[in-house]
Amino acid sequence: MTDTNARILADYQPSDFAILSTELEFDLADQATRVVNKMHIERITDKAQPLILDGEQLKLISVQLNNIELSESQYQLNETSLTIDTEAQDFILTVITEIDPLNNTALEGLFKSGDAFCTQCEAEGFRRITYYLDRPDVMAKFTTKVIADKKQYPYLLSNGNKIAAGDLANGKHFVTWQDPFLKPCYLFALVAGDFDVLRSSYTTVSGREVALELFVDRGNLPKAEHAMTSLKKSMQWDEQTFGLEYDLDIYMIVAVDFFNMGAMENKGLNVFNSKFVLADQSSATDTDYFNVEAVIAHEYFHNWTGNRVTCRDWFQLSLKEGLTVFRDQQFSGDMHSAAVTRIQNVRVLRAQQFAEDAGPMAHPIRPEKVLEMNNFYTLTVYEKGAEVIRMIHTLLGQDKFRQGMDLYFQRFDGMAVTCDDFVDAMADGSGIDLSQFKRWYSQSGTPELIVKESFDKQQQLFTLTIAQVNKPSKQQTEKQDLLIPIKLELLSDNEKTQHLITLSDSQQKFEFSGYSVKPIVAFLSGFSAPVKVNFPQREQELALIMVKASDAFNRWDAGQQLLTRYIHALVQDADFTLPQDLVVAFKQILTLPGDAALKAEQLTLPSFDELVEQFEQIDPIKLLDALKQIRLFLAQGLASEFHQQFQRLSGRAYQNDGQSIGERALKNVCLAYLSHLSDYQSLTVNQYQNADNMTDTLAALHYQALTASARFSEQIKDFEQKWYQTPLVMDKCFMLQALFADESIFNKLAVLEQHPLFILKNPNRARSLIGAFSHNNPRYFHCLSGRGYRFLAKHVAALNDINPQVASRLITPLIQFKKFDSKRQAMMKTELVNLSQLSNLSRDLKEKLDAALG
Ligand code: ARG
Ligand code: ZN
Repeated sequence: MTDTNARILADYQPSDFAILSTELEFDLADQATRVVNKMHIERITDKAQPLILDGEQLKLISVQLNNIELSESQYQLNETSLTIDTEAQDFILTVITEIDPLNNTALEGLFKSGDAFCTQCEAEGFRRITYYLDRPDVMAKFTTKVIADKKQYPYLLSNGNKIAAGDLANGKHFVTWQDPFLKPCYLFALVAGDFDVLRSSYTTVSGREVALELFVDRGNLPKAEHAMTSLKKSMQWDEQTFGLEYDLDIYMIVAVDFFNMGAMENKGLNVFNSKFVLADQSSATDTDYFNVEAVIAHEYFHNWTGNRVTCRDWFQLSLKEGLTVFRDQQFSGDMHSAAVTRIQNVRVLRAQQFAEDAGPMAHPIRPEKVLEMNNFYTLTVYEKGAEVIRMIHTLLGQDKFRQGMDLYFQRFDGMAVTCDDFVDAMADGSGIDLSQFKRWYSQSGTPELIVKESFDKQQQLFTLTIAQVNKPSKQQTEKQDLLIPIKLELLSDNEKTQHLITLSDSQQKFEFSGYSVKPIVAFLSGFSAPVKVNFPQREQELALIMVKASDAFNRWDAGQQLLTRYIHALVQDADFTLPQDLVVAFKQILTLPGDAALKAEQLTLPSFDELVEQFEQIDPIKLLDALKQIRLFLAQGLASEFHQQFQRLSGRAYQNDGQSIGERALKNVCLAYLSHLSDYQSLTVNQYQNADNMTDTLAALHYQALTASARFSEQIKDFEQKWYQTPLVMDKCFMLQALFADESIFNKLAVLEQHPLFILKNPNRARSLIGAFSHNNPRYFHCLSGRGYRFLAKHVAALNDINPQVASRLITPLIQFKKFDSKRQAMMKTELVNLSQLSNLSRDLKEKLDAALG
């Protein structure tokens, strides 16, 4: 462990030095890569400060100042920095370091993924490559020469344009790249390896030809087509929607199997987790296809929101991430069903972001204190950050939002700026005051709206009284009122009216006149703000909203609210009798005409995670039992309808247009219910045998795992044999087995840990077993024996030494212990305390453990 002092937003100071240009030369070798880093540096303040460069885990070979080698007395070296005592104003500093990519299991800086070299520099990985001013507001022009063995590494890639290439002695060759754009070092990338390349091109709106190149492991070319198509759609969408055009002559994407996150937007050279590139009918699900397109879009959109305009410091991460997630969500909505995309985004937010915001790591979308930056690539910064941008979009409307964006780029192109700069541009460009709105950037926690209605028949006046509650938290003991845009629809017999109101005080009244009968309120249409709503509407009203509201989110949400109420009732009293009306309402959804994908969402019960969020504290098994009861109730009550739909939608040849995808989703929701009924056990088994695509195959195995089907072990064996050579599908294979829902799971896990393909060093694989079990097998994760918690803690401890970032992500379900009953809390805490005593505790884990146990 190195730097144990947290950094504070308020302490920000601009750099005393600028780096005008950075010339890098890499001589690649597995365990001893030599990096020559020649920087043209200029002092830009009049302070006589020494130059302090960041560096970690580097072997320093030499330092030269204006071509003269410095002796050891002329610089100071420690674990995290290299300090040069110089008064020079303008100088060339050449630093030579040696690094060990092969043993870099943290996958930060330069590392090996299989046979290829690749980099991940965001947030602070560049300092593991060379000594540098590793901060996003130091922007330089990069030239990169890559040298490696020609046979093993025929492709040598870096950012920008190729300016030179040639052969060298000893079977080596080199390629030199130059990036004409100023960039911070976190956007630096280098890749060397042997690949298959999918080549295409795109002509931008102003007629420039851009070469598109997608690098995948040999043999995977057919699986790259979808990513290429997605890239072109993204390029076109950004031109049409925001007038933003690509700016280099080449755009490269490389897919690698070892990657901590989803992907990385390095200028002109994106590096991707292969999970978000490779897809074909037999190996990828509909969800995989959707995600590939969304992540390709996300990284592409970063070229403007992130690269052309970047962050001043890492506290501003949401400046680029919240905005870019908003942009990719809008893109997905335009490419598919906007309603279904929105519902799925809301589900993620409610299940995971709300949990984060209620837990020990709660932070505002612009955090104020950071120990390990990698811990802040969170659902809050990304997903809540996107909701905050969406609220600006709602307040301004599409046209003014665009005016604000235009001004943002006009003002800040080529600069490193803050979230305040962004909001100011949106306010100035649109003429709309956003000063109170800015509090969303500094306040953590999920606001709760308390809604009351009253009706004056005489005056024909309908009144909504809305209060906002921003509960104080340990991190922020005082909270302020937020500006909250609320969309709603009033439903009455003869009309529907839509309204946008803004709540800015702690409590406000909103009056609607001209009603002879009390209207019904479809509240928070489109989920116009990331809040919880406490609005005790009657069940008949919810049932009506389910069918009558114009907004699909409202229709879906009313159904979810009804279900949630009954689940709460069942948690209180397991003998609670569920009303037959529920079956009637669901029968309507199932049988009336309508969009299949939307129906699939409407028929899906709220998830365990979404429900946990609604309790202060809960016995997880009680909640799971309640869920099981309502699931069975619906399955039994609608068995023949589910079966009919299932039959109607089965046996069709695979197609991947929107309609077919929606129908497949609906069919599989029907199958999910039916799989809980003994009369229909053969359906999942048959679907596995007959499936011609991965969506159906996976659904069949998934439901067998969830129902602990007797046929599961035989079919998963078959699945494993078939896919043994395909890593991304083997991830699914581990994941499915981790979900098996009976006592035998612990023996199964013990066997799987010993599986020859279970490689803890591969993040996707680690997540597919450990993450899947602890996140998606709650009944056994929370088992009172404590075995589930121990299983997770054991692997987190091992990963602490291998890959702290992955360890720190996987620990999430343990640090959210406060949501559960006291017995479980105690057991979970024991594991956390044990982890906190690890001898080599990483910054990543330390920060979370301190927060959870503090
Ligand atoms: N900027 C990347 C993205 O959102 C994420 C990179 C984060 N990497 C990390 N090691 N924290 O696409
Ligand atoms: Zn991003």
